[in-house]
Amino acid sequence: MRGRPTLTQARAEELARDLFDFVGVASPLESERDQNFKLEQESGEKAVLKIFNAFEPVSLISDRAEALGMLARSGLPVPRMLDHSSVELAGESHCVWLVSWLEGTPLALARPITSDMEHQVGFLLGKMDLVLEGTEKERESSTFVWDLANTAETLREHIEYVSADDAGLVQHFLDLFHSAVEPRWASLPKQTIHNDGNDYNFLVGPAAESPRQITGILDFGDMVHSARIGNAAIAAAYLSTHREDPVDAMCAVIAGYHAANPVSDEEVEVFFALVGVRLATSVSVAALQCSREPDNEYLKVSSVGASSCLRKLVEIHPRLATYRLRAALGREPVPGAAAVEQWIAHRKEPFAPVILAAEAEATPIYFDFSVGSLEFGPTALAITGVAETAIWSRTGSAVGVGRWDEVRLAYTGDEYVSMSGERRTVHMGVDLFRPAGSPVHAPLDGIVHSFCTHHERFDYGGCMVLEHRPRGGPVFWTLYGHLSHASIAEASQGRSVEQGEVFAHLGPFEENGGWVAHLHFQIITDMLDLEGTFPGVTAPTQRLTWRSLLPSPMHLLGLSDAVNTPHAPSVSELLERRSARTSSALSTAYENKLHIVRGYMQYLYDAEGRAFLDAVNNVPHVGHSNPRVVEALHRQMRTLTTNTRYLHSSRLEYAERLAATMPATLEVCFFVNSGSEANDLALRLARTYTGKSDTVVLDGAYHGNLTSLIDISPYKFGGLGGQGKPPGTHVALMPDAYRGPHKGMTVESGLAYANSVADAADGRDVAAFIAESVPSCGGQIVPPPQYLRAAAEHIRKAGGLFIVDEVQVGLGRVGTHFWGFQLDENSSHESSHAIVPDIVVLGKPLGNGHPMAAVVTTRAIADAFDNGMEYFNTFGGNPASCAVGLAVLDEIEDRGLQENARVVGNHLLEGLGPLRERHPIVGDVRGAGLFVGIELVRDRDTLEAAGEEAAYVANRMRDNGILISTDGPLENVLKIKPPLVFTTENADHLVEALDRILAEDAVTARVSA
Ligand SMILES: Cc1ncc(COP(=O)(O)O)c(C=O)c1O
Repeated sequence: MRGRPTLTQARAEELARDLFDFVGVASPLESERDQNFKLEQESGEKAVLKIFNAFEPVSLISDRAEALGMLARSGLPVPRMLDHSSVELAGESHCVWLVSWLEGTPLALARPITSDMEHQVGFLLGKMDLVLEGTEKERESSTFVWDLANTAETLREHIEYVSADDAGLVQHFLDLFHSAVEPRWASLPKQTIHNDGNDYNFLVGPAAESPRQITGILDFGDMVHSARIGNAAIAAAYLSTHREDPVDAMCAVIAGYHAANPVSDEEVEVFFALVGVRLATSVSVAALQCSREPDNEYLKVSSVGASSCLRKLVEIHPRLATYRLRAALGREPVPGAAAVEQWIAHRKEPFAPVILAAEAEATPIYFDFSVGSLEFGPTALAITGVAETAIWSRTGSAVGVGRWDEVRLAYTGDEYVSMSGERRTVHMGVDLFRPAGSPVHAPLDGIVHSFCTHHERFDYGGCMVLEHRPRGGPVFWTLYGHLSHASIAEASQGRSVEQGEVFAHLGPFEENGGWVAHLHFQIITDMLDLEGTFPGVTAPTQRLTWRSLLPSPMHLLGLSDAVNTPHAPSVSELLERRSARTSSALSTAYENKLHIVRGYMQYLYDAEGRAFLDAVNNVPHVGHSNPRVVEALHRQMRTLTTNTRYLHSSRLEYAERLAATMPATLEVCFFVNSGSEANDLALRLARTYTGKSDTVVLDGAYHGNLTSLIDISPYKFGGLGGQGKPPGTHVALMPDAYRGPHKGMTVESGLAYANSVADAADGRDVAAFIAESVPSCGGQIVPPPQYLRAAAEHIRKAGGLFIVDEVQVGLGRVGTHFWGFQLDENSSHESSHAIVPDIVVLGKPLGNGHPMAAVVTTRAIADAFDNGMEYFNTFGGNPASCAVGLAVLDEIEDRGLQENARVVGNHLLEGLGPLRERHPIVGDVRGAGLFVGIELVRDRDTLEAAGEEAAYVANRMRDNGILISTDGPLENVLKIKPPLVFTTENADHLVEALDRILAEDAVTARVSA
């Protein structure tokens, strides 16, 4: 580059010392036209030495100095001018600056770049423009390629260097510049702008801060006098390259800018085009540089992001992007859409009915296809053939109506995934159900705008659009989807259609995309240059925009307000109501709260139809809303549910089936309603049988919420609000082979941990040792071999019973065995034999969500409990609960869910294992079947717990649609325990997301490599 200085580092250091008395070590920084060095003094003080290009006009440089000074004085985070001078190099004079060094990470390297950061970028630029407004001086117009004013010239001149693949993209945006920007350029507000808000010129603060702050903006070398909205558009252009859907970044930046410095409608209208041309300029300038330096690999890759972003942008209609930008600013998204709605609502003459009922007086029947609707079973959520009988039997001679602006689960195909990855779930038309062949009438005069026959499944089949230009009214369009193919064959473009005229007929299942015969009707306020089609379903985050593009057809169809779907309450409203009526002692999961309205198998769905992969709920063991379990409960509730003092065969069958899964001596079952009740009963059994009262427990254990159980749960009595350890409780070491004192999954450490049970019981009047077979609250701990066997022997020697709490892990979850206590049978020790607890406590998964729990024990212990005091439990073991329990056992058997837990669990552990190599924060990966823990540490030597990072990861996983949680005494263990219907694909999806999130800055920031 002409005039660009080429100092060595040593010369730069010399210059800094001679000119500014700044003694430091120089290291080079990137600069296209000038030369920049970072200087660092021994004391750690830093500065930037900037040697300007010899051809840079001095007047421009002094303008920049002035602007920097003003911005700094306004408190904005810009470098401060420390000193300036000039130097003669090879016969040319160069200005030299010494400016302050700003700490921070380049925004381009931040992981992730959030929408909040994008908003802050816009806000900062808006503030800067406010400060610099009105400061510009008259200057000759420049030919500077990065000045948006010169876009057309730059792109025209450079396009010949652009690869054939990219030239079309560049031309597209050059055309858009001509049509969308040039006619408005003269009237756009102009001023001095930074003009280079690329993602390396913004700095972000520490990742641990929430929300993470934009802490600086650098490089004022490209400042020009230009359209001020260009300043925000340039920043949005670079941020767009990081996004799946670039318009999301544009919305955040412009909203941030607007919050600081209001933008006009005209500025919004040029924004998308300016973003596009800035990226096109990047691609073109890089192409020219590549042609000059064909061997420079860096240049080749430098504009890849811009070119792939342009590829997405050409797919987006510029007006649709503009509507979304307007929505982000709280403006009417489609200008004039409200006027269309008003005109329709107030037209004096009635509209003709589009679809007639078989009997004129039959009133429409409204269907509920929303996420939580039970009208259509979870497997028949698509309104396909399966739903046919239900629809026609309810519709009768009337017109059946599917609602507008309704969130549905019906749209399951890949074609419903939007650019950002978000599923399109909101139905923006109205469905009118009548049999195939029914005539379709024009609601008002119009002309045939366009039509098309779509052959893909779940598309429109035959589709026609009418254009309406009512006298004295606004222009708008109506769309008719799922027509017969003959209707399309007979259509002719531009033909007039009169109000009431039959212009098409409904198509049958085979011709309408595979749906029950119906008309999809919608009003369109801007066709966006489409013909014969228009999307009828949108993504929840774009709902505002699409409500304006496709407003409610209520008035036009003469339907009541019932066609407008009632909206789910907002999360904030629910939280407010919750806090008014619920104790705050009960917390809510995740920073971004979940409002779940439906569950099916391993998925949960929120009110907006977003699917979450449930990797943490072990209660819906055989899948959320498992139809077999639901049916069993329903049948038994309809037949009988009564007092447990009567004889009932299901209770007996259930007890027999449960006992059959246990060692033979565990033969007597008690049925209760919760894990807590079951543990409380287990304690009573042990205390009655032994005549003693003390209990040995594991450190960090939790056994339930009753008073008796808080006393034996160190997790509670030793935690916040706890009253400390009661005298009768004795705490043994958690058998944690990773963090505990005895490391490694060896028999030695298993026996050493078991010794601590003996120590705790020693000299005490112990009734029992209670432990989870695979401790969950302790941090998803798999005890080392021989631990349980040896611990059981120790407690028996001390005169106590061995109670195993299987509330979390029982019923096949561990994969190789049905119960967690059987896992130890795998251990290789010679004296290995089956472990037989004295009492086993069962809970959570037994009822798949129906509240039921059980205690299974020996005949001798049960008999000792029969001491005259009756044990009565109103609900425990009632016929409905037993029917549920049996259905759960049937599902486990028939679907092979224990084996699935083994296979998928192994697959998951194999996928998670390598994360330990890739991410230093992953200290340990452990588990059995579908009960898995990932322990996060900041330092693998000191094992410093990464609790905040674990919480961050769980929250980010939630934001990415996967539910996991954290546990362990230090809350640093990621907990995975999904319904057993989890698949290997689900496991892969989880590992892939976790791998990505573990690389984010908030996770890596405090970790020693
Ligand atoms: C190991 C263990 N035992 C017992 C309980 C108590 O069960 P419930 O909440 O059904 O009373 C829990 C609950 O989380 C548990 O994790």
